[in-house]
Amino acid sequence: MRKGILSLTAAAAAMTLGLTACGGESGDTTSAEQGGATSQPSATGKIGVILPDSKSSARWETADRKYLEEAFKAAGIPADIQNAQGDKTAFQTIADQMITNGATVLMIVNLDSGTGKAVLDKAKSQGVATIDYDRLTLGGSASYYVSFDNTKVGQLQGEGLVKCLAEKKVEKPVVAELNGSPTDNNATLFKNGYDSVLQPKYDSGEYIKGPDQSVPDWDNTQAGTIFEQMLTQEPKIAGVLAANDGLGNAAITVLKKNNLNGKVPVTGQDATVQGLQNILAGDQCMTVYKAIKKEADAAAQLAIALAKGEKPAASGTVKDPEGNRDVPAVLLEPQAIFFDNVKDVVNDGFVSKEELCTGDFADKCTEAGIS
Ligand code: BGC
Repeated sequence: MRKGILSLTAAAAAMTLGLTACGGESGDTTSAEQGGATSQPSATGKIGVILPDSKSSARWETADRKYLEEAFKAAGIPADIQNAQGDKTAFQTIADQMITNGATVLMIVNLDSGTGKAVLDKAKSQGVATIDYDRLTLGGSASYYVSFDNTKVGQLQGEGLVKCLAEKKVEKPVVAELNGSPTDNNATLFKNGYDSVLQPKYDSGEYIKGPDQSVPDWDNTQAGTIFEQMLTQEPKIAGVLAANDGLGNAAITVLKKNNLNGKVPVTGQDATVQGLQNILAGDQCMTVYKAIKKEADAAAQLAIALAKGEKPAASGTVKDPEGNRDVPAVLLEPQAIFFDNVKDVVNDGFVSKEELCTGDFADKCTEAGIS
């Protein structure tokens, strides 16, 4: 039988986290279905989840929603998953409605820390348990935080770019940085991670620091405009640290127009179908795969336990530097993906061969050992 115990690691914080619900079998998603008279918990709670948007990354609608839904369904706990579509006012309205409709647990991916905090504080004041999902709300009041080791994500991106630049054998490459949204704490952590790799290279003169800009709301269209300006300003850009696959694809589109795709390595994150296809095509150097099923499962197990009135324990914590508090946390390990291990993402069931290996990509898939 599947044990609902999550064993997770986070290298940066040197944490090995085990998450167990105090109620013993409460983490076991099959217990509700079995319905044994004595083991059946009184599942009176309801879970509300607010996703941020559907444009900044394909993940929210294609992966997070699906995995969360599956986990709640398996546990037989009623859940309402909505998407704020980048609208901060709608975000608050959705939260209010969820609480009015009886949500006892609220899980959010904030659009920025300020509005996220307002939502969390209000929920808390009404006795609703709260979870920060993927993005930490700085100065917020969430009872739990579930994410990946995001500094490590950035470090993998930095190291990936270094590897790809070495393969291109460019002398003193000019590196451009296309960062995520300045309002997303993760974007700060990603940048801390990749700059920890790149800054020493700028300092030593091995690399030349090129344009370095954030993309508001991770907006892919704006990213294209920003990168176009970067390339006009600095035509010698030889490598692009793009913080996710969407931003990477925006840069690749501009590089294509200038016949520079494939010559200038670009990074990414999320192992989206588009990002993986860009890697197969040779236009993108790498992406970072975050096993979102594990993230969704970890968050769902917490939410389910809370909905059952339990007080689950997360054996790790992360520091909220703004609120100056240690938030009980579960952090998972990201994985760097290059052409040679795109197959790992398929083997893990995150993308299917059918959706990845379409048309011209079929041959590339064979070459990359995807069968
Ligand atoms: C997430 C990334 C995602 C980005 C844009 C970040 O907070 O961690 O996976 O690509 O937001 O949605």
